[in-house]
Amino acid sequence: MTPVTSSLAASASRTGVEIVEALEEARERTLALVASLSTADLERVHSPLMSPLVWDLAHIPAYEDLWLAHRFGGRPLLREDLAATYDAFETPRAARGDIELLGAAQAREYLSEIRARTLEVIDERGVGDGTLHEMVLRHEHQHNETMLQTLQLACLSDYELAERRPLPSAPDRSYTGLETVEVPAGPCTLGADARGFAYDNERPRHRTDVRGYRIGRTPVTNATYLTFVEGGGYQRREWWCDEGWAWKEEYDITRPAAWTADLAGESRLGKLLPLHPDRPVIHVSWFEADAFARAHGARLPTEAEWEKAATWDQESQVARPYPWGDEPPTPGVHANLDQLGCGSAPAGAHPEGASPYGCLGMLGDVWEWTSSGFDGYPGFVAHPYREYSEVFFGGGYRVLRGGSWATRSRVASPTFRNWDYPQRRQIFAGLRIASDA
Ligand code: AVJ
Ligand code: FE
Repeated sequence: MTPVTSSLAASASRTGVEIVEALEEARERTLALVASLSTADLERVHSPLMSPLVWDLAHIPAYEDLWLAHRFGGRPLLREDLAATYDAFETPRAARGDIELLGAAQAREYLSEIRARTLEVIDERGVGDGTLHEMVLRHEHQHNETMLQTLQLACLSDYELAERRPLPSAPDRSYTGLETVEVPAGPCTLGADARGFAYDNERPRHRTDVRGYRIGRTPVTNATYLTFVEGGGYQRREWWCDEGWAWKEEYDITRPAAWTADLAGESRLGKLLPLHPDRPVIHVSWFEADAFARAHGARLPTEAEWEKAATWDQESQVARPYPWGDEPPTPGVHANLDQLGCGSAPAGAHPEGASPYGCLGMLGDVWEWTSSGFDGYPGFVAHPYREYSEVFFGGGYRVLRGGSWATRSRVASPTFRNWDYPQRRQIFAGLRIASDA
């Protein structure tokens, strides 16, 4: 690369060097995701739920310039005129198809101009404590997953899912998602501790008490979900909550999105996914996940139950976010993460990523719906801006945990909280069951 990195290597902290490398890697991946797409496919609205991909491409640098050159570096924005268009709140998803956006070539240009400013500012002042740079890096990572959702919805025939890490073979024994482990009653901690980077909604870490419960050893597989579909899962009123039943009836939902090409309404997912019986079911809404659990005399886990099963070490009575040590998961070893193409591994395929209670696949493959609404933990403080989390609290969202095959390993942690509306199916989401012990 340019002299920017080499002078940085001489003058700045290791954190600075590592962050610059990670920013470069993130950008390579963003560009790789769209490399094979035509300008028309980048500029078109593929789904009313999603932005055109060119919006994501220019939102990424707009956010980077706001936080790194402007707020951190004290420079004026490079493009003040674009600020409102690429602010997620001033221009919500539904409006992004109707206004004038930068074209594909201009968006790529904007990406590279802003990145050059970012590196200049780092060269001048380092990265401070690294928090804002980490936030901007993870923002790009998170938008990569959003872009993959759009690509999946768009069913772009020339979108090749070639470059992906080979999936591990099935585990020695196979799982259905109905096997459970018992977690005895007692305390646990929730949330990220004060060290290192975490989002505001993961803090403060606090103790809570959980009644004894059982939780699925793995996510529910396609084969198991198929028996629910074939067993009248979408016809038995008693398994559905009122809102879920109304949603299912209105959109004539009869199976998970992506199982067929002719699903109606907003749930339409064009790409036909081969149904691998031993992989976790994916692209189900919270309503479907809830109905599946009820049909099995179970329920969805609360966030506290999910996080306790992922992190709590019963023997030492401490939370260990990563049972294997301090580092984030290694894709392919601990979890199926960081993939470019749609690929969940067979349920239970990463035994080295097992939690102390023996739960498998808690990180990666599919996001897992919880029964909890999205709210701040006791003592929540918005940081560094209210629009990351706080404005969504109490808004009817449900929390998802764990990350999917598309999530970057740097983002995936057992304290990370994702959220969406209960009817949404564009997320790479499945479920794990729970019940009272
Ligand atoms: C945490 C995935 C719900 O996409 O709305 C991206 C992440 N925040 N830009 C979202 C995010 C600002 C966020 N989710
Ligand atoms: Fe964003």
